[in-house]
Amino acid sequence: MADKLIIFDTTLRDGEQSPGASMTKDEKLRIARQLERLKVDVIEAGFAVSSNGDFEAVQAIANAIRESTICSLARANDRDISRAAQALADAASARIHIFIATSALHMEKKLRMTPEQVLEQSRQSVRFARNLVGDIEFSPEDGYRSDPDFLCRVLEAVIAEGATTINVPDTVGYAVPELYGNFIKTLRERIPNSDQAIWSVHCHNDLGMAVANSLAGVQIGGARQVECTINGLGERAGNCSLEEVVMAVKTRRDYFGLDLGIDTRHIVAASRMVSQTTGFVVQPNKAVVGANAFAHASGIHQDGVLKARDTYEIMRAEDVGWSTNKIVLGKLSGRNAFKQRLQELGVSLDSETEVNAAFTRFKELADRKSEIFDEDILALISDESVSC
Ligand code: KIV
Ligand code: ZN
Repeated sequence: MADKLIIFDTTLRDGEQSPGASMTKDEKLRIARQLERLKVDVIEAGFAVSSNGDFEAVQAIANAIRESTICSLARANDRDISRAAQALADAASARIHIFIATSALHMEKKLRMTPEQVLEQSRQSVRFARNLVGDIEFSPEDGYRSDPDFLCRVLEAVIAEGATTINVPDTVGYAVPELYGNFIKTLRERIPNSDQAIWSVHCHNDLGMAVANSLAGVQIGGARQVECTINGLGERAGNCSLEEVVMAVKTRRDYFGLDLGIDTRHIVAASRMVSQTTGFVVQPNKAVVGANAFAHASGIHQDGVLKARDTYEIMRAEDVGWSTNKIVLGKLSGRNAFKQRLQELGVSLDSETEVNAAFTRFKELADRKSEIFDEDILALISDESVSC
């Protein structure tokens, strides 16, 4: 049996950290229900200690969602962890996600702690959390820019304390795919108890490589959890996008050889819901969920797709929740696409000569108008019948 890739969605936590994307409890709950429909394995619902509102949102989601594991973020201290555990008390399946920075830069300038203090705090926090829930994820923040020797010591210690998932964040999106994949691989090889935890990737998109880095962490590094957000929402340039990573693993199963629990037919609805809730518009050419992701405008492509969809489509639009693919009629369209649309509109012209004449008029119009709608075609045909 193939390994399963765990999809950990953090739209409601890291996604919400995007400036201007903050969500109310009810909005978060609505999105959490959609994530459950999508069959996301883990939903990071928020950072319970950060505000009463976030605590209530995590609690409401933990109460309502039964099919996905619900997770709250916590810094590596008893207060944060207790608050997370309290918010998650009624969850069917609960996870606490503990983080502390491990890069020299963050430890010295931000935390003002020595590496030994960070190591000790990591150890103690996991020990404390382990008495509250069984499912503990540990993240060394800015992990990718951390000294590998020190990181190995920290990760070995937290696994020994009972951390069940080890997540290696590329917090500032500095990684490149091959290096990040090898970084995870090396950590797993060097840490003696690494097999006792599931390894996870968490990549930011500052250089536009979050999805590629995450996939390299899976393929080269052997990670079996990907942290991602709907539409790639997240701080600065965002996080790894759920729809892209999921469809890459599904479409290229021949290469990745991994199973997913995701019901991809709910992807487009999830994308729209997050976009409408946050006001973050999805660019038309965004992979999978952009309005043009399954649209064909050029004559050669339209002709190919009308004959066999897989000539220019590597995924089915319907598989991600679009009703169908889209043939956009415009000045690049060919006669075949035009004729097909006439048929769909129930227009039957008496002869090929009439089709040719209508096609000529269509092309004249298309030179003046960037997109031709069905109404334009019907008007074009009926104008001609009137003038005949
Ligand atoms: O990017 C990051 O380092 C994080 C951690 C809190 C996991 O979001
Ligand atoms: Zn992050």
